[in-house]
Amino acid sequence: MSQPRDHWSSNTGLVLAATGSAIGLGNLWKFPFITWENNGGAFVLVYLICIAAVGLPIMMAELLIGRRSQKSAVGALKEAAGPAWGLIGGWGVLAGFILLSYYTVIAGWSLYYFAQSLGWSFGGYPAGMSAGDLFDTQVGNAGLQLMLSLGFSIGTIAVVYFGVSRGIERIARIFLPILFGILILLLVSALGMSGSGEALGFIFRPNFGELPREGILEALGHSFFTLSLGMGAMITYGSYISRKQSIVKAAGAIVALDTLIALVATIIMFSVIFSVAGMSEEVGGSTVGMLFISLPELFYTEVPFGVLLGPLFYVLVALAALTSTISLLEVVTSYVIDEHGLTRNKATVGAGMAIFVFTIFAALSFTGTPFLSSLEIFEGKVGWFSNADHFVSNWMLPTGGFFITVAAGWMMTRSTTESELLDGNEPRWFHYGAWRFFIRFVAPVAVAAIIIAVITGVDFS
Ligand code: PHE
Repeated sequence: MSQPRDHWSSNTGLVLAATGSAIGLGNLWKFPFITWENNGGAFVLVYLICIAAVGLPIMMAELLIGRRSQKSAVGALKEAAGPAWGLIGGWGVLAGFILLSYYTVIAGWSLYYFAQSLGWSFGGYPAGMSAGDLFDTQVGNAGLQLMLSLGFSIGTIAVVYFGVSRGIERIARIFLPILFGILILLLVSALGMSGSGEALGFIFRPNFGELPREGILEALGHSFFTLSLGMGAMITYGSYISRKQSIVKAAGAIVALDTLIALVATIIMFSVIFSVAGMSEEVGGSTVGMLFISLPELFYTEVPFGVLLGPLFYVLVALAALTSTISLLEVVTSYVIDEHGLTRNKATVGAGMAIFVFTIFAALSFTGTPFLSSLEIFEGKVGWFSNADHFVSNWMLPTGGFFITVAAGWMMTRSTTESELLDGNEPRWFHYGAWRFFIRFVAPVAVAAIIIAVITGVDFS
């Protein structure tokens, strides 16, 4: 029944695919907004510390748990820490299932704005059109929402269907360089705008007096989301690494690239926003607002070469989202293949279709549909979508992450993790003792702090 395991063709293939998973709506949509909400500088600094002290060690832990077992999340955690730990793997697979079901909806919006912006580039931006009204009309249109998310789901299924090296890795090799290229173009253009100085100051000049207390926990929670940690995505990707590839080097590159892109995206958006008089007061409404309401109009009124950069920007969002949805579907697919013995083709299509049923619920959350639009499980979270996001971001990822630190730091022996990380290819900056200290003490304590904060009522989504 067992099928030979597919592998990344090289270290670059792994790094590109995992970086593609990490870079997504979290970088382009969530991070700029929470940076805004938490008043910039000090928040960014705390976030960078969380990435280095918690994110990086857990990234290495997940990759090593995967590579060692050559199994997906459930089998890998069983092998690392004992049979009961399959439950933690299962918790991760469930998180991937739910996360993918609603992530696809926002990914679908990027397709819509791409199509719209192409139209504006050729036909001109309609004078007097309200970007807010346009947004409300598109999210409120049930047929359109279903079409967009169905389109995005089919794209995701099509890639995963072809497997690790011929599907996921190939797409990452093509898309990531395009994504970097578009970002550089946008960055150059943004830095030339009048608000860029103010934007850089806002992002990089820390003022701790302005950091809300919950901002610290929000920074920690987001470091999980943005690095695709806590739910087995990196365990799964790690299970396709062959022995020859260094985990430490790969983890360093993935974390560095993800962080760089989040910062670049934020510089771009804030440069645009600070360049327009009155805009900075107007933004701030919601996460959705910045990416899908404020920016589209600005591309056509303020940004040099906006006619070209507008559509490119929305392609960028769509590509970034696709390389993340692929990794989410792969978590579920590889679980079905490894634990239930299905072929990849059947597993991909079956998992993809099952997840799409829940995508329908998420897509209809904004359309005034009875029950789906008014559901309120968590206080203040209205609609299926918001409740699902709240549950995954606030509960599932931090708890999953916590148990992964325990598995790698406390359940696996020192000699096992040491031989995995010091495999002869590790870079010189790496110090095993330091990693072990972070994974045993620093990361679990920090994550436990998030969980306690969530229980006592702080919201991260
Ligand atoms: N890291 C992705 C982002 O920032 C989201 C994601 C989380 C993807 C978990 C896969 C697994 O958008």
